[in-house]
Amino acid sequence: MYAVEIENLTKLYGEFKAVDSLSLAIEEKEIFGFLGPNGSGKSTTINCILGIAKPTSGRIEVCGIDVEKNPLKVRKICGYLPENYGLYGNLTAMQNLRYFSEFYGNFSKDRIFELLELVGLRDVADKRVSEFSRGMRQRLALAQALINDPQVVFLDEPTNGLDPAGIADFRRIIKDLQKEGKTVFFSSHILSEVKEVCSSIGIIYRGKLIKSGKISDLNSELFVEVQTEPKADIDLLKKFGEVKYDEKTQNFLIKVENDRRLEISKYLFENGYVVKELHLREPSLEEVYFNLLREVI
Ligand SMILES: Nc1ncnc2c1ncn2[C@@H]1O[C@H](COP(=O)(O)OP(=O)(O)OP(=O)(O)O)[C@@H](O)[C@H]1O
Ligand SMILES: [Mg+2]
Repeated sequence: MYAVEIENLTKLYGEFKAVDSLSLAIEEKEIFGFLGPNGSGKSTTINCILGIAKPTSGRIEVCGIDVEKNPLKVRKICGYLPENYGLYGNLTAMQNLRYFSEFYGNFSKDRIFELLELVGLRDVADKRVSEFSRGMRQRLALAQALINDPQVVFLDEPTNGLDPAGIADFRRIIKDLQKEGKTVFFSSHILSEVKEVCSSIGIIYRGKLIKSGKISDLNSELFVEVQTEPKADIDLLKKFGEVKYDEKTQNFLIKVENDRRLEISKYLFENGYVVKELHLREPSLEEVYFNLLREVI
């Protein structure tokens, strides 16, 4: 069973396709990063998964439950931090969480203190939210998303407005959620934060999923960069993979499937070359992302 399974989701606003035949399967206990530029359809997809927006066509299941047939059942096992969340400014942090927990009929003071502790707001539990900074509100909204102890947590651009310490806390929190056995689905356009915490990703562009899979699968283009004295015979290096020579750096770039630096340096040494430089070059997620976009634009 998948935590989230989407088959051919399409969402039209009038003539406009906000989501276009999107299919996606996310394993349980995964931290899934949903990446895409502004207006690409991230929030619309999340809203369809949670039964907040009605798909034009397609089928969605959360932990085996069909969203269209059982929207309330799905909402019960999901947590949601929306893009534009609402908190009551004239209530304290504690009172806000109490209010939301009563929706689920599961009010427990201990649980609320636990959540406030988790998001770093324990000391301001009794402070009014109108006096909170943007980052403090964001933390409280995250606590609110966890109030029903959800199996799957949807976080729509959760690090908006957080300072570096807040972002670090957020990473720790979602890794803890994963350890507790929860699945985390979060959207972002910040590539580095996704790379840092996610085990798998999906990239959406103009409503279409242009790539999904393990983070490691994305970094498929791996090169060993090597420079020798004297300059090596290119044919010798071809034994390890496709080779290019960069005149500017005077380095050879050997396309490899995995890290073969040791073998390469040994082989070059045995053939009478001194290795002056040897690096493994992986594209950054930014490069991967823009290369993928270039392919589809
Ligand atoms: N209720 C709506 N009515 C009409 N168009 C909408 C509606 N909601 C979203 N759209 C359009 O659908 C597209 C996708 O919007 P969506 O909010 O899903 O993007 P997003 O990837 O979440 O963007 P962002 O990073 O800015 O949050 C946008 O072009 C948006 O204008
Ligand atoms: Mg959005």
